This record gives sequence, C-alpha cells and structure tokens, in this order.
Amino acid sequence: MRMQPPIEARYTEMPEDELARRIAECKERLGSQLCILGHHYQRDSVFRFADFTGDSLKLSQRSAETAAKFIVFCGVHFMAESADILRHEGQVVILPDLSAGCSMAEMADAEDVEDALRLIERVCDEANVIPVTYVNSTADVKALTGRWGGACCTSSNARKMFDWALRSEDQGGAGADKILALPDEHLARNTAFAMGYQGSDCVVYDPRKTDGGLSKEAIRKARFILWKGHCYVHQKFTVEQVDAVRVQTPGIRIIVHPECSQAVVQAADESGSTEQIIRAVSASAPLSKWAIGTEVNMVRRLAANNPDKFVRVLSDAPPLCAMMDRIDPPHLLWVLEELCHDKVVNRISVPPAIAADAKVALERMLEQSGT
Ligand code: 13P
Ligand code: SF4
Repeated sequence: MRMQPPIEARYTEMPEDELARRIAECKERLGSQLCILGHHYQRDSVFRFADFTGDSLKLSQRSAETAAKFIVFCGVHFMAESADILRHEGQVVILPDLSAGCSMAEMADAEDVEDALRLIERVCDEANVIPVTYVNSTADVKALTGRWGGACCTSSNARKMFDWALRSEDQGGAGADKILALPDEHLARNTAFAMGYQGSDCVVYDPRKTDGGLSKEAIRKARFILWKGHCYVHQKFTVEQVDAVRVQTPGIRIIVHPECSQAVVQAADESGSTEQIIRAVSASAPLSKWAIGTEVNMVRRLAANNPDKFVRVLSDAPPLCAMMDRIDPPHLLWVLEELCHDKVVNRISVPPAIAADAKVALERMLEQSGT
C-alpha cells in the first residue's frame, strides 16, 4: 500500500465551510476539464462534489466514457488504477489520498496467483482454468488475468462473468472447466450458490499454505477454486445480527452486500452490489423497513434520501471502510487547487505493459456488461 505524505496544515485546519466553498470554486474554474467520480462509500462532504456517483461497475463505465482531461477518483486505489487502465490518451487520473488502498486487493499477489493457476492446470491434466478477478484487485493481478484468458468482475456482474467463463467458446464464452475466483472468497461462493452450485463444488485456496492447503483430489473435483481473501468491513456482519434485527423490528427486510459470508447472505432476504441495494430500497413502498449489511456512509445517505422508509445499518457498530474514509475535503481541495495551478499531484499511473494486459480483462467484463 502506498503512503500519503502529509499535506499542508492550512488544508487540514481549514473550517468545513471554507473547504466546501473552495472546492466548489476549483470545480467552477476547471469546468469540463475535470470529472470527479465518487463511490457510494464516500463521506457526504466529498460525495456531494462528485459529477458521477456509483458502484465500482458504474464508475468503471463512467471513467471509460468521460472526455475530461482530469479524472479525480474519490474511492480507493484499485478503482483509480482501473480508471487509469481504461483512460484515453492525454487523460490523467488522480487519487486524492494515496493511502486509500483496499485490504482485500492486497490479499492477492500476482506471483502467488500465477503459482495457483499453474498448479491447478498441472494437477488437472491441462484443464482449461480461467481466472475471474474481482475488480478489488491490483493492476498486476488484473494483467495476469488478461494474459490467462480471464476477465474481471464486480459485485454487480459476478454471475454474468462466471456464466461467461463456463460457457462454451461456440456460445461466446471462455469454455472453462474450472474458475479460479479471486480475491474474495465470499463473493465467489455466494455467486456459485446463486447459480445453483453447492459447497461440494467449491474449495478454498489459501496462498499462505503449500499447494493452497489443498489435495490434488480436492482440486480435481472442484468447479470453483476460491481464493482465501475477504473484506474486513463485510466479514463483520453476522447471522446473529440478522436474527436480532428480525426480532427487534418485525417485518423488516434485510439486504446485504455479497462480500458478506454465505451464512449471512442466506439468512438475509436479498443481496446485491451497492447500486443494487440502492435500487431495491428506493423502489420499495413507503413505510418499508430495511436493515442493510454494507458500509455506513452509504446506508446513512440512503436513509436520508428515503425519509418515508425506515432504513438502518444491520449491525449496531457502524461499519466504516477506513480506506474509503481517507478521502476527505482537505485532500480533495489540495489536489484540485494544485490542478488550478497547472500541477498534477497524486497521479495514478499503471505501467503501460501492465495496463495493456489488465485492459483486456477489464474490457472482457465491460463487453459482457453492455458497454
Ligand atoms: P461495489 O461493487 O458494490 O461498488 O463494491 C465495492 C466494494 O469495495 C465493496 O466493498
Ligand atoms: Fe476494500 Fe472492503 Fe473497503 Fe470495499 S469495503 S474498499 S472491499 S476494504
């Protein structure tokens, strides 16, 4: 993970209203040269300045479409890397705080993933193994995915991408015998279950153990090999919380992100990406009651935007993504003021050879998602 050097105290000590006024002034000055993208987990004081908001799929699509010269990504490092991979010639991608990483993305190292792919291929007599890589991953891992004939996915389209990987080549798929799904074990298992597969079709590959901690027999039998990785925010939701909320508020519907464990997803009424959760709650009838298993900034905003409904976080402790939270008004103002002085700071720049291979994996996903 990269470290953000401290920014000047005049930014960190500036009152909120002055920060907001100056960010708005910079936006005005930079005009159509600037596009600010904001993920749903961003705090309100940043999110309000986004030109486009969305989940990771929607933001990848937006970043590929915008003609703005400067893309300021209010999200985490892997999102800004994806924007840099998809950018057009002359565009520049900026992440306001370089330490806004994603701990899940750090759980899969490209060399370890390549070792796993080679092992599976060897054990399974050259079977066709395709990596399907959640966008919450490093550019190196996306590049490896592209080189191995695989594709990226997001929590909005994981099922579509698993279907694509397993479909025969005659039918426009990748014709895989097996999928190595990474880096989130839970998204992968929840997706396999939604497709009708069972626990016996999935095994977990632990990169910290020899041969992933798996026997040859287990690798041969499995359809899905799940990388042992997780999101620390979503892994904290429990079945006990689901049960407690149902007792506290009879008639409440529970919707969770698919990065939650399979037990939590099964205990909930629905699951979906951040964008799918927003759609479900917004489309529900007045007076509907919802408990939501995802990041707190998004849930609070959803509650505020749906005053005719009861909307709460599933857990009692607020589930905050500390990485997303690093993007704050002082850092946003700093990068914008530097741009106004013709200076680019915090540029995210993926080396061209890595970007070219990673783009293949991202574009396979965007093609299947209708872009
Ligand atoms: P979405 O794909 O729903 O935007 O999720 C991104 C993420 O990081 C969830 O933890
Ligand atoms: Fe990564 Fe989890 Fe934060 Fe999403 S919520 S950015 S997966 S740490």
